[in-house]
Amino acid sequence: MKIIGTGSAIPRREVTNDMLAEFLDTSDEWISTRTGIKSRRVLSTDEDLTQLAIQAAKEALKDAKIDASELDYILCHNVSNDFETPALACVIQGAVSAHCPSLDLNGACSGFIFTLDCANGLMKAGRAKKILIVCAEHMTKMTDWTRRESCVLFGDGAGAIIITDEGPDCEISISTTYSDALTCNARVVTTPFSQQEEKYAKLVMKGREVFKLAVQSSAHDIQEVMDKAHLTAEDVRFFLLHQANLRIVDAIKSHLDQPEEKFPHNIERRGNTSSASVPLLLDEINKQGMIKEGDILVFSAFGAGFSSGACLIRW
Ligand code: ACO
Repeated sequence: MKIIGTGSAIPRREVTNDMLAEFLDTSDEWISTRTGIKSRRVLSTDEDLTQLAIQAAKEALKDAKIDASELDYILCHNVSNDFETPALACVIQGAVSAHCPSLDLNGACSGFIFTLDCANGLMKAGRAKKILIVCAEHMTKMTDWTRRESCVLFGDGAGAIIITDEGPDCEISISTTYSDALTCNARVVTTPFSQQEEKYAKLVMKGREVFKLAVQSSAHDIQEVMDKAHLTAEDVRFFLLHQANLRIVDAIKSHLDQPEEKFPHNIERRGNTSSASVPLLLDEINKQGMIKEGDILVFSAFGAGFSSGACLIRW
């Protein structure tokens, strides 16, 4: 599997910690020291996630220098989007004029890795040669804006990549165990047959539990993909970790005993964009020309489930 193009899109509106402190009992000092976040991009009235997803997809196609008609599959990952149905992937397909099967997956914040795994499986089964993956998330609409311990963490955005089967093998490790450390119930509606009280979805997180699970699982997954590839941390050019909390990134960095420059991050400007966070970061460092042919990259993500996964690829 080889990544031949990347793209991303973020909302225009930037919301700083100080702006949150205008309506929440919080402060820039608390948020930045506990999480590393200084600001995030947030979808507001005149923008929607579909626009971001389409923009990220078009950028990735342009970067890969391929036409959408060459795509064999579009996989879109999201935990929140503008539609219950059709899949956001179908909407993207229409917008880029592709003619291939398109579907959405939901693997929470680990979704980028889970989607890569599915895409890799499709390519190994000979079902696809070129696949567009888009991870697009509108986290700020799932957030409970009265819960200061979670709402300050999230941002919105979309990241996209194009992969082809013309490349060396990658290594992927994924796992899920049930945990209620991070949940968001579906909307409850009243019907003629169900008289439940109508409720809207709200994200609930046990922050400390998530923190511990995240560090344990990410360290384990990264080691597993390096072992499978018979490589060590010294061989890896960049570790791109889910941007959930800078202290989690620091904990993994200390565990692997690798220099700071191998752990690029953008959480200070983007917040936690769930499954979009790793492809957004990848696009940033790719567009800055930081990745060279043959570089070994490790992606690692974790989230609700509890789910986690890592992927090691050669650029
Ligand atoms: N502003 C000010 N004070 C706050 C805020 C806030 N936004 N949020 C909580 N506090 C207060 C609490 O009320 C508590 O006060 P108390 O001591 O008087 O009771 C105090 O700060 C400490 O709260 P803790 O929850 O113990 O703080 P902690 O150091 O654990 O940090 C945090 C909380 C940042 C959420 C941390 O646990 C964390 O990052 N966990 C992982 C979260 C994560 O990664 N989530 C996403 C992963 S999955 C996904 O991506 C969807």
